[in-house]
Amino acid sequence: MNKQNLLKEAKNIKNKAYVPYSKFPVGAAVLTRSGKVYTGCNIENAAYPVSCCAERVAIFKAIADGAHDFSEMAVVADTERPVPPCGSCRQVMSEFFDSNMSIHLADIHSETKTVTMEELLPFSFQAEDMGERS
Ligand code: THU
Repeated sequence: MNKQNLLKEAKNIKNKAYVPYSKFPVGAAVLTRSGKVYTGCNIENAAYPVSCCAERVAIFKAIADGAHDFSEMAVVADTERPVPPCGSCRQVMSEFFDSNMSIHLADIHSETKTVTMEELLPFSFQAEDMGERS
């Protein structure tokens, strides 16, 4: 699975987004080291804060399926610039992704920007910060 195919998976699942409130569909696809792809779209709720972003849906699907070892992620939205993931998703990504893992971000023009986890969320809070308690 190459970068283009992973982006295609993210673009396809974007069509499944449940976005009656924002009307802003997002698609995400995360690839495991064993080559499995988990996709996610954003799912909104009439109680707005209960909504979940595409990135977290994809990651949570993978975790719930027992997959933890990720190698790449792709995120697609109808934005003018490669879509920047929200802060909550960055924190969830940093729980499971290595600091050098690549995340491909795409926009409506199919322009892409690849960033590492460290670039997306530098100086992130980690389990080790809790010392003995973690
Ligand atoms: N959203 C995502 O799914 N991922 C992002 O990277 C940015 C924002 C969703 C949340 C909400 O459903 C809609 O986009 C507008 O914020």
